[in-house]
Formats: sequence, C-alpha cells, structure tokens
Amino acid sequence: MAYRSLRQFLDRLEQAGELVRVKEPVDTHLEMAALADRAAKQGGPALLFEQPSSGRLPVAMNLFGTRRRTSWALSCDDFEEHAAELRSLLRMAPPQGLWEKLKMLPRLGKLATLTPKHVSGGPVHEIVDREPDLSALPVLTTWPHDAGPFITLPQVVTRDPESGLRNVGMYRIQVLGPRRLAMHWQLHKTATAHFRGYQKRGEKMPVAIALGGDPALTWSASAPLPPGVDEYLFAGFLRKEGVPLTKGLTVDLEYPAEADLVIEGWVDPAAALVREGPFGDHTGYYSLADMYPALEVTAVCRRADAIYPATVVGPPPVEDQWMGKATERLFLPMLQMVFPEVVDMSFPVEGVFHNLCFLSIKKEFPGHAKKLMHGMWGSGQMSNTKTLVVFDDDVDVQDHAQCAWRAFANVDVKRDLVIVDGPVDVLDHASTAFALGGKIGVDATRKLPEEGGREWPEPCVHPAGVVARMDALYQRLVPGAPPPRRMKLAEPPAAAWSPRKGAH
Ligand SMILES: Cc1cc2nc3c(=O)[nH]c(=O)nc-3n(C[C@H](O)[C@H](O)[C@H](O)COP(=O)(O)O)c2cc1C
Repeated sequence: MAYRSLRQFLDRLEQAGELVRVKEPVDTHLEMAALADRAAKQGGPALLFEQPSSGRLPVAMNLFGTRRRTSWALSCDDFEEHAAELRSLLRMAPPQGLWEKLKMLPRLGKLATLTPKHVSGGPVHEIVDREPDLSALPVLTTWPHDAGPFITLPQVVTRDPESGLRNVGMYRIQVLGPRRLAMHWQLHKTATAHFRGYQKRGEKMPVAIALGGDPALTWSASAPLPPGVDEYLFAGFLRKEGVPLTKGLTVDLEYPAEADLVIEGWVDPAAALVREGPFGDHTGYYSLADMYPALEVTAVCRRADAIYPATVVGPPPVEDQWMGKATERLFLPMLQMVFPEVVDMSFPVEGVFHNLCFLSIKKEFPGHAKKLMHGMWGSGQMSNTKTLVVFDDDVDVQDHAQCAWRAFANVDVKRDLVIVDGPVDVLDHASTAFALGGKIGVDATRKLPEEGGREWPEPCVHPAGVVARMDALYQRLVPGAPPPRRMKLAEPPAAAWSPRKGAH
C-alpha cells in the first residue's frame, strides 16, 4: 500500500502498537537523540515527539527501527518480497549490462504505470514561506561535539545539468543560519557530480530537500542506485503506485507533492565552500569538519499538519541498520545479474556497511574468490568496501558467528589475503589519505589443488536423523530447555568424502 503521508504511516504503526507518543517536552539538543538511540538499540517503538523544545512541528523518530517497520515502510510484509519480485523482473529483461536492465524495469508490463505522476500543487504546498526562518524547524543536535543542528533524514533532489536526469540522495545537512545550509554530499556521490557539472557551466544549482511523505521515498533516497536510475521511480515500484511529483515554486525541479515539508534553494558553485561538521556519524565516531557547498534557501513549503522526520546515527546498531538490511536484500538480485556466482551477502552492523561485507559464492575455478573481490571493488558504492570476506556457498553469511569461525579456520594469511589501494569511504578516518586507502579481501573458501595447500577437510555435522532423536530425548531429560541454537551446516556428502581417506 502506498502511504499518502508520513502521518498515514504513523497511524498504521499506532494501530499496530508500534508507535509511542512522547507528550512531555524533550529537548531537540541531545535529549531526543539519546532517547531515540535507546529505542533503536533495543528494537523499540517508533517515537512521535509532540513537544520538541525548539521548532513548531512534531518530530518522528525510529521509523525504520525494526525489520518489520522497515518492511511496512516499503509497503510490504517483509522486504524479501521486493527482492523476489526484482529477481524475476530482472530475469525478464533482455540481456544487457546491469544498469541497462534497471533502466528497462519501468518499461516492463505493469511497471510502466509506476513512473512518477506529474501533478500541480499538492499537500506540500498548503503553507508556503518565501522568507523562511529555519529555526522554526525542530532540527536535532545529536552529539555533544556536533557543530550544530543537522537535518538527518532528507531526500535531496538535484538534476544533472547535462542529461537533465534527476537524483535523490540522503545526505545530512547542517543548519548554518535562518536561510543557510551546508550540503554534505560526499565526494563519490551523485549530487557531487551534479555540483561539478554546474560549476563547469558557471550556473547556479537548484536543490530541493524533501522531508517525510511516504517512507518508501525516504528509504529510496538512501538506496545506492546508479546515476540515471530515478529513486522516485524505484519508490513507485516499491509502493506499487507512481510517486506524485509537483513543480518547485522557486526552483525548476520536481519533488513529492505528498511530502511533509520541502526546503527549496540554490547552491552557487562559484561561492566559497563553508565549514561543515564535526558530526557524530554512523561510524560511531565524529566525522571531522571539512569544506562543503552552502545552500541559500528561497522557500519552505509544507503541509499544514507536517511532521518532521529524523534519525540518530552513531555507534552501531542504530536505526539505519534496517535501512541498510533492506538495501542488502534488494540489491542482491541486481548484484547477482553481474556476478552470478554470488549466493548471498551480508553487511554486519559492526562494519557500518562500508567496512565489512561477507559474500558466499559457488566457487568454480582457482582464484574465483579473488576475481569477485576485484569485481566488487569496481562496482558502484561497493567499491568503497574496506574488508571483503568470500566464503563457499555452504557457509551461511547471515550467521556472523559462523563466518568468524570459518574465516579464521580457512585462511592462510600469506596465501589468502589480497591488499589493494583505492577509493575508500569518505567517513573512513583510518585511511592514509582523504577517501583513499587500503582495502583487504579475505579468501575464506576451501582451496583447490591449484591454489596450493593440503587436502581440505569437511566441518563436523551430526546426522539430521540423530539430531532429531536426541533433541527429543534432551527435551525429556531437561524439561523446559530452550530451543537449541545451532549453526546451519550442510551435511557433507558421505560417499564423496571421508577423513580416513586423507593423507598428510
Ligand atoms: C541516515 C543516513 C545518512 C546519510 N548521510 C550521508 C551524508 O551525509 N552524505 C553522503 O554522501 N551520504 C550519506 N548517506 C549515504 C547515502 O544516502 C547513500 O550513499 C546513497 O546511496 C547516495 O545516493 P547517490 O548515489 O544518489 O548519491 C547517508 C545514508 C543514511 C541512511
């Protein structure tokens, strides 16, 4: 189901007991973030702060704080449903490059109806302020050493000045003054490429910052879609209904007509950059102050009953773990189009997405794991992944304890590590230079004879029939025992392998 507003999504959460209204006053400076961080870390409810200490709108937080709520936000019961649909659609698309296939999606059958719809006006224009004061918004200061208040859950709409194609990205925004913002679009992101385009042409860059509306739009802004694939089209696919877009009033851009609030403005690429940050980031550390473009606000438009959405980033796990999990699941089928050997992937939350990725593959030839590492380091935002660990397909990469066991057991550190240089995430404070540093690939697959080494043993697994009988006996011996926590391990094919055959 497509949500007509953020309020409609909150109504659904409230009916399901997934929303808590905070009626007492809570400070937008540090307090709200601390409360929402606790809720996120405990898989707690979404929060609606009805009396923020600053700003005149209620604040919604921890909207994506569980797998269930993130799935509901994406208009499904579990986001694996979208992954399954994408998988079958991509199979239907003619054989071309991955991104070409993605561009084909809207042309496939019913998806044609899911492209954005152009409307005039819309609820987001109920109140228009052409001389706004951003202090009227309840923008949070999250951490004590943050440089000030930051907008944390925005959809930043920009347009490529050459191709005219739209991009929507989630980039935090620092409030510098009543009508001035600092735009933290990082070096590798699409809005930075747009900014460079305007700079080259000597033109000002129009920007619209949408907040709220259907949460599928908010999530889509964070999705690593390649330049040229419209996030609002992708959101239309998720919500099974085209996103209504309306024209900006002071910028020549379209944005969601059903958003709660939109800030319109211009970035002058000829103007001096401004100091942005520090900001307590999703790495769990402060990202240090740096120079970013300033945006001069020309209008704030909003619904009469707008709700301001926000999130807390900081030491993991935080709310974005579920936004990231949805990304992992929805992008796996797309990745598999280019790398069909990939069986599964997982980004453990402790790796904050760009520091660690586990991949399992159907290994078919010597050096296969290493081939995949290089492919990943050449693919979109995957290229920033600092640590890639590649396993065989009998390893459950969603089970991180199993991954640790298998990786430590299977790796000869001289043979199986690949260390390369290249771009790394801008937020990586450990790299030797800004956005440039070392990356490591770990080949944790079983080694083929050509790769060197000794005969490879199988892991120990109780036979399934024995386990079933002994579980029943254990339950009788220890009544009330909790269900066993076991790794998912495949029984080795008995005929093909026996440790007794092994020779040293
Ligand atoms: C809560 C949250 C905050 C984010 N903040 C930033 C940010 O400040 N700057 C940035 O470049 N990316 C940030 N990201 C990551 C981008 O949204 C993500 O890389 C997205 O795919 C970028 O889109 P693009 O490829 O259209 O540039 C954030 C993601 C989330 C979930």
